[in-house]
Amino acid sequence: MYSLENPAQPQLVEELDPSSNFQDAFDAQILKKATSVAIEKLKDNISNSNPRGLKLLSPDKLMTLVEAFAKRNSTSSALLDTQLLEEIIDLYTATGIPVYSTGYMGRQFSGVIPITGLTDLLTSMMSQPSSFYESAQLPSMVEKVIAKEFGDLLGWKHGTYDMVTTSGGSLANITAILTARNSKIPDFTNFKIKRKTIPAIAVSADVHYSIKRAVGILGIGENQIIPLPINDKGQICMSQAENTLLEAENNGYHVFCLVATAGTTVVGAIDPLEELTALCKQKDYWFHIDGAHGGSFLVSDTLRSRLKGIELADSFALDAHKTMFLPASCTLLFYKDIASPKKTFYKEASYIFENESNNFDGGEKSFECTKRPMIMNLWIPWVLYGKEIFAQKLEALCNIAMQAYNELTIASDFECLHQPQTNILCFRYQSEDAQYMEGFDFQIAIRNKIKEEGKFFISKVEVQGKTALRVVFMNHEINIEHFRSLLDEIRSIGQKIASNNNIEQAITI
Ligand SMILES: Cc1ncc(COP(=O)(O)O)c(C=O)c1O
Repeated sequence: MYSLENPAQPQLVEELDPSSNFQDAFDAQILKKATSVAIEKLKDNISNSNPRGLKLLSPDKLMTLVEAFAKRNSTSSALLDTQLLEEIIDLYTATGIPVYSTGYMGRQFSGVIPITGLTDLLTSMMSQPSSFYESAQLPSMVEKVIAKEFGDLLGWKHGTYDMVTTSGGSLANITAILTARNSKIPDFTNFKIKRKTIPAIAVSADVHYSIKRAVGILGIGENQIIPLPINDKGQICMSQAENTLLEAENNGYHVFCLVATAGTTVVGAIDPLEELTALCKQKDYWFHIDGAHGGSFLVSDTLRSRLKGIELADSFALDAHKTMFLPASCTLLFYKDIASPKKTFYKEASYIFENESNNFDGGEKSFECTKRPMIMNLWIPWVLYGKEIFAQKLEALCNIAMQAYNELTIASDFECLHQPQTNILCFRYQSEDAQYMEGFDFQIAIRNKIKEEGKFFISKVEVQGKTALRVVFMNHEINIEHFRSLLDEIRSIGQKIASNNNIEQAITI
């Protein structure tokens, strides 16, 4: 045993223990073998579009299974214990949400474009960060090219704007808000200054929680968030917003940034971007658009007009790992003014950046140092198939959302809470019997039971004080028949719960 008084002397390892797995683990041949085992297993998972939901194990049971792996020793003398690997893959897929199934209508992540399984593997094996040009020559250029493709769609002049990649929408939001803070209040961290007004940020009442957290982390303070009322479509209500902002100003707040959303998490609403742009310009606010969900509509000639006004924002983000169907993470954060990100993030670091700042070192413009060259997952399918495949899939998803909405409007036992502006739809099942079940949330009970039954996977959410069932269409293979089957499942489960008319029984049926 190691002791401080009598430390073990380091020994030179001259020869590796031939019985150890060390040599095998680093043998490059293993990749070919392991990949073919994994693909054979994954094939069934990704090509099976039959409706199926999540198989939920209790955490205790799963922990036992996982711990059992740690106790096992590989018995195979071959390069790779394929049986052990297969068992691990089986457990991983069995406990995963079946995102390739037509029963999956639950969340904003989706099955990925299959080729990105390979592009992600390439990136892993290249094993280089994309923060500086030398270590990421191709990804650095690719970032510029993708930025240009989007810039052209926005009508932005080449060379005047910039784009950085971030590991997720939450990180993009805090990155943008910090840039906004430093740009609009450059002396924010000078605590000797006695301010006459309090710096504040205006956001939609339905803003994603990452924005609120960012405002807290950045020292602006969550109490300095001015929530802007939303209308029954879930969008910022312009007339009320103007009054709320006026009131905030009268109460001593200095709003310097307004955050809108293109595709709210709750109902997929797109705020009135054009009107908000005009408001921000008039009041000299930084205008950031969280387009994590809906920003990718830019690639579609049909859907782009829903984002009218985005081209005038100071910054906006889009999550390609959501609505461009790539492996997580891949977020693109755009700045209208090329100078703004570097002003906030550039630091000298002789060990990494060139003496002369250049515009290719991504690390100069974002929080992350070691950062995955995530852009490769977007660029490779873009080159192989064209941006149209993203557009076609998005259009198909919005189309099925609209068909589902029409279906709900004619079903007297459902209440649809909004018309979809993207691919998210929230609704409630109503049963006469259920109204007598006090102290018990009927919609949540239905959702939980659906999850347990394992045919569909949907989510739940609160829409302006009402609990609702939420579907997010992320699989283009879903058609109206699949949605009708979901409604039948909801009816059947709902009726069983309601007819029990008893909370305990309802929970256990
Ligand atoms: C509107 C919106 N913004 C931000 C985020 C956070 O993005 P990420 O999960 O990539 O951090 C989400 C995630 O659901 C979102 O819906």
